[in-house]
Amino acid sequence: MAPDSLSEQLVKYLTDVHAMEVQALAQMRKAPDLAGDPDVAAAFEAHRVETERHEALIRERLGAHDAAPSRVEDLLGKLSGKGFLLFAQANPDTPGKLATHAYSYEHMELAAYDLLERVAQRAGDAETAAVAREIRGEEEAMAVRIGGFWDKTVAASLSGRDPGEHIDDYLADAHALETQSAALLDRGPKLADTPSLAQIFENHHAETQRHLELLERRLSERGGSPSRVKDAALKLGGVNWSGFWAANPDTPAKVAMFAYAVEHLEIGAYEQLTRTARLAGDGETAMVADTILPDERAAAEFIFGTFDSVLDASLGEVAQRG
Ligand SMILES: [Fe+2]
Ligand SMILES: [Fe+2]
Ligand SMILES: [Fe+2]
Repeated sequence: MAPDSLSEQLVKYLTDVHAMEVQALAQMRKAPDLAGDPDVAAAFEAHRVETERHEALIRERLGAHDAAPSRVEDLLGKLSGKGFLLFAQANPDTPGKLATHAYSYEHMELAAYDLLERVAQRAGDAETAAVAREIRGEEEAMAVRIGGFWDKTVAASLSGRDPGEHIDDYLADAHALETQSAALLDRGPKLADTPSLAQIFENHHAETQRHLELLERRLSERGGSPSRVKDAALKLGGVNWSGFWAANPDTPAKVAMFAYAVEHLEIGAYEQLTRTARLAGDGETAMVADTILPDERAAAEFIFGTFDSVLDASLGEVAQRG
């Protein structure tokens, strides 16, 4: 059999983004009720309409590649990134966690469409490339919108309660995220199969260890107990953010997309931690979050910058596998 052709690869990328849109749609239907703020709810509602269109557009592109609906079902069953689905099905229990989850998910979509456009271009499918570019713009706009809502989502999560009482929880949640990230980054260089991405993972792994130390020190300064950190780690599994880490990404492109989304999970968590801490008059904790945030942002941008070489590695590998 000839090596997996680019157009076969393209169908796989289309199938993956289609599955993402189906899951996004389920989330967007629930999100307005959980948002806790009218502006945030309206943004989710508007993006639900966009998401419906994305799903239809991608279904249409799949059809253009003779991937009939039944074939689509078939492909869904074989979805390589099942962790994405687990992640998509997460059930955030506060407006803040909903926003963090959505912020991360929109960035994952943004990355997926960025990659899809590149694959479509390589396959000479200008129409799919144009559709990908258009949808990517809407995912990015939604991500930026959520990124402008942190004050609102923090207020909605607190809903009148004392911010000081939540700092330890936020710190413990951040600690749980960093612990999972560290594990992912530890495996990362092997999975990356791209020297530039492997190097980024290695560097960020070292930064992540430092973040863990900063969080631990702050927790103990505040008199928090180690058991709280353990509770948070369990809760993390409970909201199913663990989907990210349960996944076994099968190509370097997926590893990069995954890691990019994880960084935005962290960014969302720290954006809300620093605001909650400032509301509580806890400047020390705010400083910890403000120290860590630039590292997460930089890591995300560095990862994004590797997409083209990561795609070389992914497509090349598939071609060799045949
Ligand atoms: Fe979408
Ligand atoms: Fe989206
Ligand atoms: Fe990170």
